[in-house]
Parts: sequence; structure tokens; C-alpha cells
Amino acid sequence: MKKIVTALMEQGKGILAADESNPTANERFSALGIEPTEENRRRYRELLLTTPGIEKYLSGVILYDETIRQKTTQGVSFPEWLQSQNILVGIKVDEGLEEIPEVQNGKVTKGLDGLGKRVKEYTEMGAVFAKWRAVAVVGDGYADPAIKENAKRLAEYASVCQEHSVVPMVEPEVLMDGTHSAEDAEGAIIETVAIVCDQLQQSGVALEAVILKTAMSVSGKEAVGRADADEVAERTVRALKTAVPDTMGGVVFLSGGQSPEEAVKNLNAIARLEPHPWPITFSFSRALQSPVLAEWKGKDENADEAQALFLRRVALAIAADSGAYSESMEAFG
Ligand code: G3H
Repeated sequence: MKKIVTALMEQGKGILAADESNPTANERFSALGIEPTEENRRRYRELLLTTPGIEKYLSGVILYDETIRQKTTQGVSFPEWLQSQNILVGIKVDEGLEEIPEVQNGKVTKGLDGLGKRVKEYTEMGAVFAKWRAVAVVGDGYADPAIKENAKRLAEYASVCQEHSVVPMVEPEVLMDGTHSAEDAEGAIIETVAIVCDQLQQSGVALEAVILKTAMSVSGKEAVGRADADEVAERTVRALKTAVPDTMGGVVFLSGGQSPEEAVKNLNAIARLEPHPWPITFSFSRALQSPVLAEWKGKDENADEAQALFLRRVALAIAADSGAYSESMEAFG
């Protein structure tokens, strides 16, 4: 598992999250007038995964249950295709959110039933890492009522993964929704991530073989006077240094609804504060994909342009991951 962590966190590479559930993918398709069918989801994922040149930049891709079973037009399964490109296969193993009577006003992530069996099946398909996403809101006094239950479930899922030699990518996402400040986001990340890390350790999960996937300490989407990249970076690094043990195998960032430009700018500022105790990189979905999907619109004639845009967004994120991004780079290409 440590070798997998090292490969995923390789300097100069990042991770594509292409694990949107069908309802989420369908919502994004419908908003652009793309018919939300299984075949269109396959075509879109094929466009992303077969973009020439991404193998230079991507260490891993996270797939969804439907996607890991799908094939390219030439009949190669997506996991086999990724392996042929030297890209590690990941899989989303949680099954979305539920409300439970024990937790008032909060949502917890489900998916523990039959998890061991599913993880085993995914390993047979080539998956070597597995993601589980829990969400937390930034509230008054920060604490999300669901966090303790989510932390327990994250630790249980991580244990099951490690029993199968699969690297858990543990994602307690502090949501960007709301009017909160970057300072409030920092507090919520410290609290949430610390509870999760404690629970992982108490449950005997080997942190060296875990990748933490986290939000950045950004102002809420509806906040007035949003924090700039330097402030976001300072607050993000401080929160993570406070909450994440140095033994954590790696830290990757989700984009969480930031624009593609904002996400790379913030990542760049975070990278400029290196050295950090753990290797860092990105694991973006929307910040890499939203312009690509908007360009593609489900039409074959737009595929080349959409792939060029995708490669470009990935390359910019890679530049940001080493602190070498500048806004002027957005203007070219
Ligand atoms: O679970 C969240 C995804 O893996 C990352 O998506 O970059 O759009 O937040 P995002």
C-alpha cells in the first residue's frame, strides 16, 4: 500500500476524480442539454480517459461503479486502459448520503453493507485505491452534528480497504455552501479532520497508507469579500498542520465548487508554502471537468477541442501543484 501511496503522490502528477455518481453526472449533463444516458456517460468518460498526453500528468483516476465496468469504443475496459497508460485505478465505494434518527440535522454517508465484498470485486477489476466521501457543513461553533458518526464510518471503511491492501482515500469534505468566512472554514476543517484522524488511529488504520482528501479553507460560496489565495493557503496549511499527523501518506485537495481558475490559484499558493509534512497534490473533479463538459456538449465534433481543454486544465493544475502557476498562463492556448 505504501508503494501505491508513493506512486499516487508522485511529484509532478495529480489525480482526476471522475467518480460522479449517476445522479450527479446526469444533473451536470441535463444542465447543458446533454441527454443523461448510460451511453453518454460512457462517451464522456472515454473522452476524458483517452485524452492524449494526460498520462504524463495523472497518477490516478477515481472511477464510479458504472464506469469501472465500461469500455472504450475499441472494447478495452476503462481500468485496463488506465493501467496501459500507467495510471492507477481508484473507485468510489461510498453510496451517498443518508439521514439517520441518531443524528439530528446532519447527513451521514452510507455504504458499509457488503463493503468487503465490493472492495474485493473492485480489486479484481484493477482498483488499488478507494474513496469514501463524507460531508460536513460550516456551522455556528463549527461542529457538524454528523461528524462523529461519519468519522466512525470513515474509519471502518478505511480498515476494510486496508484489509484488502487497497489504499483508502478518506474524504471528509467541509462544504463551501454558505456565507461563512475563510476563518470559519479553517476552524471547521481543523475540527472535522482532527476527529477523523483520531478515529482512524483509534481504529488501527495505518495512516502512512491513507490519503486524506480535503477541502481548502475557502470563504463560503455566498460570502461577501472572499479571501484571496494567500489567505486561503495560509489558513489551509495551518488547519492541516494542526489536524493531520505527519505520518499521513498524502494530502489531496478537492475543488468543491471553486471555479477552475480559483482552484488552481489557491493550490498554487498552498504549494508555495512548502515544505509540508506530507506530499500534496490535487484530486479535482469540477475544477478540471466543468469547462470540458461545457465544450463537449455531447457532440463528437467537439471532442478534440474538449480534450485539448482538459489537457490544458490538467497541465495548469500540475503547474500549480509545484507553485509554478501564474494567472497569465490562463491567457494562452
Ligand atoms: O468527492 C468529490 C470529488 O471527488 C471531487 O470533486 O473537485 O468537484 O469537489 P470536486
